[in-house]
Amino acid sequence: MPFLNKKFQLGNLTLPSNIFCAPLAGCSDLPFRRMTKKYGPGLIYCEMVKMDALVRHDPGTYHLLDFEKEMHPIGAQLCGSKPSLAGPAAKMVEDLGFDVVDLNCGCPVDKVTKDGSGSGLLKTPFLIGEIIANMVAAVKIPVTVKIRAGWDEKHINGADIVRIAESAGAAAICIHGRTRQQGYKGPANWGWIRECKEAAKNILVIGNGDLFAAEDAPSMFQETGCDALLLSRGTMGQPWLIEDIYRCLEGLPALQRTAEDYRRELLEHLEHVVSYHPDRKAAMEMRRIGCWYLKRGKGARKLREKINQSRTIAETRQHILDFTWDEIDFSEEEVVEEAAACDI
Ligand SMILES: Cc1cc2nc3c(=O)[nH]c(=O)nc-3n(C[C@H](O)[C@H](O)[C@H](O)COP(=O)(O)O)c2cc1C
Repeated sequence: MPFLNKKFQLGNLTLPSNIFCAPLAGCSDLPFRRMTKKYGPGLIYCEMVKMDALVRHDPGTYHLLDFEKEMHPIGAQLCGSKPSLAGPAAKMVEDLGFDVVDLNCGCPVDKVTKDGSGSGLLKTPFLIGEIIANMVAAVKIPVTVKIRAGWDEKHINGADIVRIAESAGAAAICIHGRTRQQGYKGPANWGWIRECKEAAKNILVIGNGDLFAAEDAPSMFQETGCDALLLSRGTMGQPWLIEDIYRCLEGLPALQRTAEDYRRELLEHLEHVVSYHPDRKAAMEMRRIGCWYLKRGKGARKLREKINQSRTIAETRQHILDFTWDEIDFSEEEVVEEAAACDI
């Protein structure tokens, strides 16, 4: 199939594929990225960081940008609405060794949008142009931008922003096919992504929203005509989704992921978390992460509860090791009811 491109040109950068992994605030930290990176994504993004925090050298912000040399090609994402900070912040990202710098125009959280940042920028498209132009002028690495289709259904302006981003010099624009008003609920509208692709002349369009299973990838390429895909929640608890998509796009038979696969990956993720966080924090992190890996399995409730009650990482590990994983059925198509407990 023609959709997969194993030499994808993004500005001056040649990427190993056009299947990317999204920035996920509070989730796509270093341990998470170690897991997805194993499966060979074309590009991975760190979770968003605030421009103003970065330019004032906030140590916590640097921490969010931790990466290892094996993680290249890697992108950082900036969140902010001040054009004067955008250039210096982008330059800092470049100096830290990132391959790509992205502008966040999608975050729906009130505390972010209230100063006009994140999806708040959808209301001031001219500012998106100014910010991108300043970033482009400050760095040699490609500049990308990630937007939602609009603020709400009455204000769908993705296609206008595509033209603005293109004129400002962005190499690619990622369209999340939901509005700010939708948050993460309801289906993504891929028609809005198609409209954005139709508005693009040279800028590359990356499709995003509801890529949860391998078969979703050819469908999104087909329905939107987009150039690349950005995987988000689909990689939470199934880091192999990238490999599954490659196989699907190459016409290879799907790999049946077994309980043993989930067990092995969960344990590996745990060890990365342990190596990165202090013990207590690691045990807390594993409550969420355990939920991601176990929410697709029928019969996983008991283990999820045990992980949720663990106070130390030694306890968490022991529960995972002691559990009879054969009791869990991951072949069920339908996500189990109690998985609502893991909803984001
Ligand atoms: C927990 C969480 C954190 C997110 N953090 C970011 C972020 O830092 N930057 C960003 O551009 N989008 C962020 N997003 C949005 C996703 O990257 C993506 O656009 C969205 O989830 C739609 O894709 P999906 O339906 O495949 O999950 C986040 C989404 C979730 C669920």
